[in-house]
Amino acid sequence: MSNNRLEIEDLGILFGGIKAVDGITFSAQAGEVTSIIGPNGTGKTTLFNLVSGVYTADTGHVRIEGTPVTGEPLHRLARRGMARTFQNLQIFPQMTALNNVMTGCHLRETSNLFADLLGLPSSRRETTKSRELAHAALDRETLGNLAARPASDLSYGQLKRLEIARALVTGCSILLLDEPAAGCNAVETLEVDDLIQQIAEEGVCVVLIEHDMRMVMRISSHIVVLNQGTKIAEGRPEEIRDNDRVVSAYLGAHGAAEARAAHG
Ligand SMILES: Nc1ncnc2c1ncn2[C@@H]1O[C@H](COP(=O)(O)OP(=O)(O)OP(=O)(O)O)[C@@H](O)[C@H]1O
Ligand SMILES: [Mg+2]
Repeated sequence: MSNNRLEIEDLGILFGGIKAVDGITFSAQAGEVTSIIGPNGTGKTTLFNLVSGVYTADTGHVRIEGTPVTGEPLHRLARRGMARTFQNLQIFPQMTALNNVMTGCHLRETSNLFADLLGLPSSRRETTKSRELAHAALDRETLGNLAARPASDLSYGQLKRLEIARALVTGCSILLLDEPAAGCNAVETLEVDDLIQQIAEEGVCVVLIEHDMRMVMRISSHIVVLNQGTKIAEGRPEEIRDNDRVVSAYLGAHGAAEARAAHG
């Protein structure tokens, strides 16, 4: 039995003969933030799509606590504790904030469509439970007062956190976040940063894709660097920010200085 909450081994996929993700191996632990960084178009989101069963891998394996789960669809992975957010907001703007979060609950619910249609007690009980969970998730992100408002009334930063709330209501033990702070201002970024740290401190295995190097260097235990689909480095923040290959492929002089400032 493995101690790794999430294990990725030799994962790869070809798009039109080009290796978009090329034999990536790393593992991520409970209670830690593991970050994936690298230039645009380098395979980070594709890696998430392989791990969360959106794409079928050409090579490699994914394991959750030692159990092979390669290629399983997201609703099955959700029952094993995995949840994710998307790089582009996937929010229903006309629906209330609460209902948007409640859509996340359906991933873990056991009642089926027939029970829902017939309004069976099992289905009603789950809806009540979902509503409670969604309220609690909104409250912890100080979005509780916006529960009844259409999502379109929320600011961009609030919507980014709403997406995280929707992932959290699944009760996940592995959370994949694809650029949760992209497009956020400095204040909103700090809110996202705090939230992610709290989630990890509660024991969740967080895997984070993010371009904000201050945030990455501050909250990551472990960083994996991709370039053109391959892993070019892996290590603790202070190892990564000083790695020549990473600086020349991605961080550049500016990024390295920013990373150093953030990490002290
Ligand atoms: N469904 C697809 N079909 C063909 N090519 C794809 C597909 N999805 C992604 N790609 C290609 O795979 C490569 C990696 O893209 P990906 O979106 O994973 O990059 P990324 O590292 O997430 O970039 P960014 O930082 O800009 O979000 C790119 O060249 C992209 O064009
Ligand atoms: Mg991406």
